[in-house]
Amino acid sequence: MSKPKNIKTRIFLDGADPEETRKVISLLGFLDGQTTNPTLISKNPEAKERLERGEKFSEKQILDFYRQVVQEISGLLPKGSISIEVYADHSTIAEQMLRQARDMFSWIPNAHVKFPSAREGLKASQQALKEKMRVNMTLCFSQEQAAAVYAATLGARKGGVFVSPFIGRLDDRGENGMDLISNILQMYRKGDGHVEVLTASVRKLDHILCAIKLGSDIITAPFHVLKEWGEKQLPLPREDYSYDPGQLPPIPYQEIDLGKSWQDYDIHHALTDNGMERFSADWNALIK
Ligand code: E4P
Repeated sequence: MSKPKNIKTRIFLDGADPEETRKVISLLGFLDGQTTNPTLISKNPEAKERLERGEKFSEKQILDFYRQVVQEISGLLPKGSISIEVYADHSTIAEQMLRQARDMFSWIPNAHVKFPSAREGLKASQQALKEKMRVNMTLCFSQEQAAAVYAATLGARKGGVFVSPFIGRLDDRGENGMDLISNILQMYRKGDGHVEVLTASVRKLDHILCAIKLGSDIITAPFHVLKEWGEKQLPLPREDYSYDPGQLPPIPYQEIDLGKSWQDYDIHHALTDNGMERFSADWNALIK
């Protein structure tokens, strides 16, 4: 198999096990990139085995481990983008994120550094872009956050900025996450196209089909969803495809002006806070 000719959406694997990367490449015949995060690192089989033996990592060891994983993946996807996430809990300030970002960006030639779509993350991303890094603004749950990402990163070149709206976590709490993708894409049509929308927190094949139909620039999906897609011979949404949100109520489109400065958007979202706490707790659980 190879990538269907008629899709422009890039397909990434969401995971931190290079073995999965190998399997997906052989199953789909292509893979455009990969996203990682601290939770996914904690689920890497080698890390899990080590923890089961009762051997935690030192801070240096876990970063070395993350680097090795990412370097192996980068070797498998030299032309793709690999996202690496900074450690950020509620008290991490932009300067601390930046210090990590500079290191992480140097690990491989094809990195995007992930920062949370929160105040300190946005500040850090602005400086990171000035220093010629590429960024992926993660844990995005609202159109206002996506507007703030747009405003904070104005002037960046295309390919330099991804925003990652998390649809599955919105579904999990009873909102139709797919609407957020559609709303952000609609809002960005008024802009200059410098931010690419990366559909994240994918739970099922229908999320992939809908995101392709909507024209998401990128989709990242876990191994089991890409496996199902491959086993079904890479189906694409038909002309008459329509996504069934089940009982999930819609997220209405908001008319938002993209011309404000990023500090003027209401960027707080409880799921961003929860997400940062969860990522940092999973990371800290690896360290002695
Ligand atoms: C995106 O880059 C994230 O790694 C990911 O999609 C998180 O999804 P989850 O809700 O399955 O943890």
